[in-house]
Amino acid sequence: MNVYDSNRMANMLDQMGLTATNRQKDADVVIFNTCHIREKAAEKVFSDLGRAYQLKLERAEEGKDTIIGVTGCVVQAEDKQILKRAPYVDFALGPLRYFRLKEVVQEIFNKREMQLLDTEFSAISKFDLLPENKAEGGCSFLAIQEGCNNFCTYCVVPYTRGIEMSRPVEDILKEARRLADTGSVELNLLGQNVNSYHGEDINGKERNLAYLLNKVAEIDGIKRIRYTTSYPADVDDDLIACHKNLKKLMPYLHLPIQSGSDDVLKRMNRRHTKGDYLRVIEKLKTANPDIGMSSDFIVGFPGETDDDFKQTLDVVNEVKYIQAFSFKYSKRPGTPAAVMENQIEEKVKKERLQILQDLLFDYQTKFNLSSIGKVMPVLFEGKGRHARQLTGRTPYMQNLYAEADNSLLNKIVNVRITGASTNSLSGEVI
Ligand code: 5AD
Ligand code: SF4
Repeated sequence: MNVYDSNRMANMLDQMGLTATNRQKDADVVIFNTCHIREKAAEKVFSDLGRAYQLKLERAEEGKDTIIGVTGCVVQAEDKQILKRAPYVDFALGPLRYFRLKEVVQEIFNKREMQLLDTEFSAISKFDLLPENKAEGGCSFLAIQEGCNNFCTYCVVPYTRGIEMSRPVEDILKEARRLADTGSVELNLLGQNVNSYHGEDINGKERNLAYLLNKVAEIDGIKRIRYTTSYPADVDDDLIACHKNLKKLMPYLHLPIQSGSDDVLKRMNRRHTKGDYLRVIEKLKTANPDIGMSSDFIVGFPGETDDDFKQTLDVVNEVKYIQAFSFKYSKRPGTPAAVMENQIEEKVKKERLQILQDLLFDYQTKFNLSSIGKVMPVLFEGKGRHARQLTGRTPYMQNLYAEADNSLLNKIVNVRITGASTNSLSGEVI
């Protein structure tokens, strides 16, 4: 979601005649689009800001002005604190307010010496106020929903991104068509809880994610569709049917369980048990036996026992994820879990994470190795480390490197897989 937001901000700055630079010293405007999901990400912002301030001072000596801005969830969570902790920041916009970026940067250019903070939860959707989106490459993100009403007890998202809001169907289709027209062949529909999508169609009727997926699939230029992130309790039968009927829907699904223990899930305020989750996966596999699963996991949630943790490992052994993301529980201020008793020691969290990741990587490596010899359609998204090398993704989101001409960039090409490791594949273009 932050990548999507950052791209839209870059588009806005582009319209002002500001172009992106790789050389930090050249930047007249520096914007940090921030994440507050775990402590490490949030704290990094302040050290990065400190470095940007040094740069600003160095540039000032050369007579150059530098505008420093912060956007995203850290702004929302820290509110006025951010301007106190980093008083040299020129503006701070919450994640729902960055549609004002152009106006704010322009105002600062016009009249220096002003600091601006805006963290309103607006009644109008920011998406209505943003200029049109355009493709950055063959694969684009498209936000269809924002915010979350689930209130998992560890999570800051409902507080920083606000309550759940679904964009209207027609707005999304318009953006999807434009992304297709400007070069995207793959769309990843985004939301914090994307499968609870319930946007209105032109007649004011509420539609679900399955409806939207079918509509997006009708767009000729779009060849591949994904959606992220889903909530297990909100996977309905219409959505499962999409995995059977929609050829453009990729056979990969990120469906976080977080923990395999029903006790922990309950204290996390997740609206599903381990059994519910496994039944959803069973249905998905019946709809499409080739589907590969991915998940998020949190280890060391308050009160997590050795046995709770073992049940998480059991789920991994049962589902055999082809990819996964795992984290140590991180206390977030203002969330219910932060004040729960029986917080887990850092040492134990670290040990559990290591054990879990070893197991997850094992399955991921096995899956990647099983791809050798197969021919897969790969969307080439970028240049590789070597000359004449491109990187891309298989339908299963595996990273792939292959010798290929630049003309294949942003195209879907058949590749025979010749090598595999934990994190990537190599192959030959056919
Ligand atoms: N600590 C650790 N991980 C977290 N996540 C969300 N909040 C926390 C937290 N406080 C993880 C969840 C979520 C992913 C985006 O980040 O696994 O699915
Ligand atoms: Fe956070 Fe996801 Fe839970 Fe929403 S569903 S509260 S975004 S972890």
